[in-house]
Amino acid sequence: MVAAAAQPAWRRLTVLANERGARHVRELLRDTDRYASFTRSFGSWLFDFSRQRVDGDILHALVDLAGTAGLESAIRAMWRGDAINRSENRPALHIALRQPRGANIGGSAIHDLVLEERERMLRFAEQLRGGDWRLVINVGIGGSDLGPAMAVEALRPYGAGAPRVEFVSNVDGCRLADLLAEADPARTLFIIASKTFTTQETMANARAAREWIAERLGEAQLLRHFAAVSVNTAAMNDFGVHPEQRFCMWDWVGGRYSLWSSIGLALAVAIGRDQFESLLAGAHAMDEHFRSAPFADNLPVLAALLGIWNINFLRLPTLAVLPYDDRLRRFPAYLQQLEMESNGKSVSIDGSPLDHETAAVLWGEPGNNAQHSFFQLLHQGSARAALDFVLPVRSSCERQSQQDLAIANCLAQAEAFALGQQDGPAEKQHAGNRPATLLLFDRLDPANLGRLVALYEHKVYAQSVIWGINAFDQWGVELGKRMCGALLSAVAPRGPRADQPERLRKLLDYVDRFRANDGR
Ligand code: F6P
Repeated sequence: MVAAAAQPAWRRLTVLANERGARHVRELLRDTDRYASFTRSFGSWLFDFSRQRVDGDILHALVDLAGTAGLESAIRAMWRGDAINRSENRPALHIALRQPRGANIGGSAIHDLVLEERERMLRFAEQLRGGDWRLVINVGIGGSDLGPAMAVEALRPYGAGAPRVEFVSNVDGCRLADLLAEADPARTLFIIASKTFTTQETMANARAAREWIAERLGEAQLLRHFAAVSVNTAAMNDFGVHPEQRFCMWDWVGGRYSLWSSIGLALAVAIGRDQFESLLAGAHAMDEHFRSAPFADNLPVLAALLGIWNINFLRLPTLAVLPYDDRLRRFPAYLQQLEMESNGKSVSIDGSPLDHETAAVLWGEPGNNAQHSFFQLLHQGSARAALDFVLPVRSSCERQSQQDLAIANCLAQAEAFALGQQDGPAEKQHAGNRPATLLLFDRLDPANLGRLVALYEHKVYAQSVIWGINAFDQWGVELGKRMCGALLSAVAPRGPRADQPERLRKLLDYVDRFRANDGR
């Protein structure tokens, strides 16, 4: 494996960045063929990267980089089910979760397993939708929360008539407390979503939920009011989840890639079988595009390459994702885990230190809100960011005249960030030259949401291959968890603290002074 920076294409890009990196986007936009040369379509989708700071030679060298980095064979390896998650010796087969019957992705055993579990999950979701449940609460965090929660928000118009679906993730229990304060125990069901079924935040909330049901309805009712999704069948059993309300996922799916599995149960309750299958079909369509389209026309590969150009060659270390549809308001938060937990790495897949940056810091808010929040910094500040504008054209709430305002704002901002403003006093000038991609599609429906999420999943994988890193492990989250475990007894009121450093003992003394005394 030749290190990324040693690739001839990488060296060529370094030369091009030195020679042409300072050219302003407004100069590039003078090219009358620019729109035609730097937009791609995918079905009804438009991928407009004409405001990125690239020209034909740079794009050519980026596509070369994808080729020499072995992206084609890496894509085949994913589809074969190779152990591309090398540190955990596992495949990464989220593509198998959304395959249609007969596609045999991952092999016939995995195909059959996925289709069977999908059918079980969807049948259960339809059962919940047809029952007298009023409230379904997903208890999970990270990949067991962010994807389903984002999708339920994004597809709210498809949830009419379904039980109310809510999400609880944080360890402090406040969200759970707020929901339970107004909930009817007899008509509330909890989904404990946790690949490991050991995550501290999730198990704390799950125990609190179990106590709430037991206190109000009696222990015998627990079986009826809990479902669970996990790899860990024994733990689901120990928690007391009825076998028919347990759904499994597999260790060959990363948590942040698991929306398509039974982790999507809460979403399936919200939108139903048909729409969930439409979401899967959309993602599968993007899978086929990623697997088969030439890199120069391949949306996930282009998104990956533009990100590498911005991060590694233009030295833009952050990416602002700006959806111009309020129902995508949790999309940036979802992408934060997908991109930064996948590619926030500093050693290569074989353990050697990297000599280049990797994942950008990803942030963002719905477009118009961002305009009244941090666009000042983006327009005139020193922050260095690339921009992804995501624009569904049709209103998600039958208010097209207002979505037209969102469209106008989105296009205007893309122009302002590209062109800037040179006249007037200094404090009113805008440098412009902020590189942006515009992603437009007809409407925010399940199929397009599936395509959108899969596009970013494959962008992340393509970048990891070119950077030579593992996108599917997350060892960086273990140290904090371990240190928290070691501190729990000291944090308890009058807990043992002698072996803690003074800096922590002082903080715990402060905690003792102000902690609510609940009689412990
Ligand atoms: O953030 C660490 C992590 O392991 C994520 O990768 C995962 O999505 C999340 O915690 C929740 O893990 P689980 O689904 O096992 O509860």
